[in-house]
Amino acid sequence: MNLASAPPQARRSRRPDPDLSRGAAPASIRSCVRGVGSALPARVVPNEELAAKVDTSDEWIVQRTGIRQRYVAGPGETTSTLAAKAAEAALGAGGLKPADIDLIIVATSTPDLTFPAVATQVQALLGIVEGAAFDLQAVCTGFVYAVATADKFLRSGSNKRALVIGAETFSRILDWGDRTTCVLFGDGAGAIVLEARDSDGRLASPGIIASRLRSDGRHRSKLYVDGGPSTTQTVGHLRMEGKEVFRHAVGMVTDVIQGCFADAGVTADEIDWFVPHQANRRIIDATADKLGIARDKVIVTVDKHGNTSAASIPLALDVAVKDGRIKPGDLVMIEAMGGGFTWGAALICW
Ligand code: ACO
Repeated sequence: MNLASAPPQARRSRRPDPDLSRGAAPASIRSCVRGVGSALPARVVPNEELAAKVDTSDEWIVQRTGIRQRYVAGPGETTSTLAAKAAEAALGAGGLKPADIDLIIVATSTPDLTFPAVATQVQALLGIVEGAAFDLQAVCTGFVYAVATADKFLRSGSNKRALVIGAETFSRILDWGDRTTCVLFGDGAGAIVLEARDSDGRLASPGIIASRLRSDGRHRSKLYVDGGPSTTQTVGHLRMEGKEVFRHAVGMVTDVIQGCFADAGVTADEIDWFVPHQANRRIIDATADKLGIARDKVIVTVDKHGNTSAASIPLALDVAVKDGRIKPGDLVMIEAMGGGFTWGAALICW
């Protein structure tokens, strides 16, 4: 149900506001979404183009993943330039100037350089000279980790407004001769501005209501990049046991989502929009079905963007805000799972 358009009686019919003592945000300060934006490379690569290079077909890719095309960065397009463009769009959507920001967190596994952080490059590109900026690496779960991290900074009172960005150029760590991985990923960036605001702590009040983060390093070999500064001194290529990732994905994300529901005292049918990490249409559908979330509440962009890792959720949020589906007051669940393994979810009242 859409809370913004619901009559007051329907809003009151929600279950009583819960005990917020576990993972949910306490009353007083909440991290509220002020703006969202995104940026994609200029070049679109349809499945047919890949089928001309490796032994695959549009039919196989669509049937197994739901992906029809992806965007691939060209010369001059890097993770930091895409991130800065997405950040500018989010600031514009929120009616803000760069100087209004005092925290930048960029979730990425594909930085321009080993260091400095993409976040400090975004800071420089936007002309921000105050506050703090750092990168966070949790692969495809990076954006959920970054949202939860920014939320803790804002609720502590140390910062006022955070740019939370997911930005990737996975095309640059793909083995373009490996059909089992090169068809799956794409490039792009998405950003949201989170703002600390006083809140009465009620479920229907804007802001991040609950978040849950998990990881388990024993799964390292199922999804990793085979290079790095401290081992090979090369960037390396992405390697994945796709079937193994698929096998774990639904159970892991379902667990953290149900944790957020418990923390917030809501049930699956009460959320307005489900915005999952866009890795594979079959994983998205299986997760929604397991949780009992109606398919028409699921935001799907994997067909157009492919898997853009940490960028996929904010890219999808921007699409759904721009086309009018996500509106102020809506309850939005985001979730992701990725290399590590890492996984997490967050419930946001928009
Ligand atoms: N085109 C044609 N055939 C292919 C391709 C391709 N691109 N890729 C693999 N195949 C073949 C395989 O070689 C295999 O052939 P075989 O039966 O002769 O051995 C056959 O297709 C079936 O392969 P499977 O791996 O069993 O296919 P599956 O149905 O599992 O789909 C996929 C593979 C799409 C990778 C799926 O396992 C998946 O989506 N896994 C999850 C990936 C994911 O979600 N990653 C998210 C995390 S990403 C991150 O954190 C960076």
